[in-house]
Amino acid sequence: MKYSKILATGGYLPEKVLRNADLEKMVATSAEWIWERTGIEERHIAAPQETTCDLAEQAARQALQAAAVEPAAIDLIIVATTTPDYIFPSVASQLQERLGSYGCAAFDVQAVCTGFVYALSIADQFIRTGATRRALVVGAETFSRIINWQDRSTCILFGDGAGAVVVEAADEPGILSSRLHADGRHRELLWVPAGVSTGYDTTRQNAAYVAMSGSEVFKFAVNTLSRIAREILEASRMTIADIDWLVPHQANERILVATARKLHLPLERVINTVSTHANTSAASVPLALDVAVRDGRIQRGDTVLLEAFGGGFTWGAVLLNY
Ligand code: COA
Repeated sequence: MKYSKILATGGYLPEKVLRNADLEKMVATSAEWIWERTGIEERHIAAPQETTCDLAEQAARQALQAAAVEPAAIDLIIVATTTPDYIFPSVASQLQERLGSYGCAAFDVQAVCTGFVYALSIADQFIRTGATRRALVVGAETFSRIINWQDRSTCILFGDGAGAVVVEAADEPGILSSRLHADGRHRELLWVPAGVSTGYDTTRQNAAYVAMSGSEVFKFAVNTLSRIAREILEASRMTIADIDWLVPHQANERILVATARKLHLPLERVINTVSTHANTSAASVPLALDVAVRDGRIQRGDTVLLEAFGGGFTWGAVLLNY
């Protein structure tokens, strides 16, 4: 078996919905401003006791059920997250215990909003080498926990959620190719300047919160997302006309529209969940994929391009036949 194939998808959004009108009461903003500049109308926020692993578990169970795969048949679990429950163990280890897939390899991947694309690419490599037969790949975040809810330039953009896929070895693709990149020179444009070995300065208001230079990130994201799409298509000897669906990272509708325009891709072929999910970081791509699979837009055999961009900076793409 030379390839890996997505068997099924799952997704989970926390119950609580935070609308733009609610944010008007929290920071100096307006519902119209948020909608016009980002395309976001609402986002889901985890309940106080709800953790990233809780969200991951819901999405994972849904994907496993849709794939008709028992947890014991999974031999690799990768969770992409920036907001783990604990410093350790990993969310993947916790998830393994909850699902009862004892003994299989389980680890987290930290590539911020590109995390799921990284994780899916890693799972694909494991499967192609024969090391793994069936993998569970999850993107899960409680990003609301690292947001300064008094900072109007960031708090309007993010939400919580989880998406998951079950990937299995197959004779036919499946995943056609993947491309991963990072450039650490830009780290201070989008980061959380606090952590284990640098320390948490609790006297500073922004101690463990997302700090972002919005317009610089915006421009970099548009250029990078169009470039990575061209790169992976060229490497696969395909053109944008071969793509049935683009499933991009959901950060800002204007980024999606500008990327599609640069690629000459009609917006009807772009999966857009940003208005109701906002930016759920590593969960955004698998959640959008799950929505489009469940509503019937993405059909078996369709050619799908997943792509993401995030802090680090990191970026990447996975090209696949669904
Ligand atoms: N409500 C009202 N006004 C706001 C605001 C808010 N929530 N946030 C910022 N503003 C103000 C700014 O203070 C600024 O005011 P000034 O001109 O008086 O200084 C003005 O709106 C314009 O700010 P600017 O940052 O230029 O707006 P923008 O059109 O670039 O939109 C973002 C801001 C953050 C929505 C946009 O830059 C963005 O989406 N960037 C990418 C973010 C992203 O995708 N991050 C994650 C990548 S994985």
